[in-house]
Amino acid sequence: MLYVNAKVGDTDLNLGVWLQGCQMNTADSERIAGQLEQMGIKRTDSPSKASVVIYNTCSIRDHAEQKVYSYMGPQAERKRKGESVAIVVAGCVAQQEGEQLLRRVPEIDLVMGPQYANRVGDLLESVFSGNQVVATDAAPIMEDISQPRRGSETCAWVNIIYGCNERCTYCVVPTTRGVEQSRPKESIRTEIEALASEGFKEVTLLGQNIDAWGRDMEPKNKFSDLLAYLADVPGIERIRFTTSHPRYMSLSVVETIAKHQKLCKSIHLPFQSGDDKVLKEMGRGHTVEQYLKIIRRIKELMPDAAITADAIVGFPGETEEEFENTLNLMREVKFDMTNTAAYSPRPNTPAAAWHNQVTEDVKADRLQRINRLGTALALERSQRYLGRTLDVLVEERNVKNPAQVKGRIEQGRPVFFEGDIDETKGKLVLVEIVRAEAYYLVGRQVHS
Ligand code: SAH
Ligand code: SF4
Ligand code: F3S
Repeated sequence: MLYVNAKVGDTDLNLGVWLQGCQMNTADSERIAGQLEQMGIKRTDSPSKASVVIYNTCSIRDHAEQKVYSYMGPQAERKRKGESVAIVVAGCVAQQEGEQLLRRVPEIDLVMGPQYANRVGDLLESVFSGNQVVATDAAPIMEDISQPRRGSETCAWVNIIYGCNERCTYCVVPTTRGVEQSRPKESIRTEIEALASEGFKEVTLLGQNIDAWGRDMEPKNKFSDLLAYLADVPGIERIRFTTSHPRYMSLSVVETIAKHQKLCKSIHLPFQSGDDKVLKEMGRGHTVEQYLKIIRRIKELMPDAAITADAIVGFPGETEEEFENTLNLMREVKFDMTNTAAYSPRPNTPAAAWHNQVTEDVKADRLQRINRLGTALALERSQRYLGRTLDVLVEERNVKNPAQVKGRIEQGRPVFFEGDIDETKGKLVLVEIVRAEAYYLVGRQVHS
């Protein structure tokens, strides 16, 4: 296909169609947007006028994957009509489907896997010279010198390890994000120091299996040591991280969080299932008891910590009783929030080929039941904040009510309160909590 764009400097770029994915995908989107802006490509909010359209895709469940095809339809149609538009598919669907995407939608100009997020500039240049490009070969992730276009002025994402070496039997991530590549601790710290000097107050360290950080290095490094090394960057008030894996999260990580004030007492530790047999079939490499051992240590050292998790219902072969074990685990831990999903069979994953799939009806029923419990527990956990005065880091105006601003407490719950965004943005403000909903709080600013 020959596609030539006249002048990059005049090109409108539409970045409006970022699809849902994990925080890592969001961080990649920010990185891609930053590089394009450096190339002089301007943003437009109107996809029908854009001359470059980028879809940063997620493939974790079939529904997420299908969205990209429906979004892409109108753009392919524009191109068939002779309009000048470059169509880029980035992210996990790009990696998973590779060249097959071009067969399905021949109008696509560039297919680029997540490992190429730092190289979008070069790839686009090649597209502008008339090539149709597929960039999905395994690649070392170059140390990032691009300036991401950050979605917030207060909180920033910082990748510390790319890829995943696990083989959970339901999951596409190891095939879409490749093998683990840890970033050196000095460059992580340098990035955080730079963020602090730009006025950022909070960072979230990212990795699919964050506890694996450092194990691919020579000599090996430990995640708990990295946390301690980052815990005192001047200007940064809060450090969060995601995602921990119960098989690898060490008690010294828990102890490190407890010890350092800036490490948020908010821990995301997916359990996926509360049943040992299901966990084994998922290939998680831990039991319910091993999971609970970490939870008990967290509660012992940090009774006020928020504990959040992910769970899958309707994994192949999951019986009613095994599902109820998941609910029992939730009742025992009392999660502040549980992200839930019905199992979705994914390409190139072992569990998708098993013959004991659970019916859609049963999955839907279990999803409803787990969500009901998840919300009830979240509400119970929220209520402990009622009447307390807490530090809220203010991020932005409440889009739904401009008289209010939105921030978060250390444990991660969003808080809305009346306030002036220009005065409070990026600041820690004392707020008395007057209303507690399951997933957010409402408060009143306390002027000292
Ligand atoms: N690395 C993280 C999770 C990454 S994917 C971890 O190991 O916990 C984010 C969440 O999506 C997972 O925790 C899981 O709950 C869900 N998920 C992944 N694959 C899925 C699938 N095939 N069907 C349904 N949910 C899935
Ligand atoms: Fe997927 Fe498992 Fe890796 Fe998480 S640890 S990204 S669930 S393979
Ligand atoms: Fe989705 Fe890829 Fe993240 S599949 S959840 S965008 S790693």
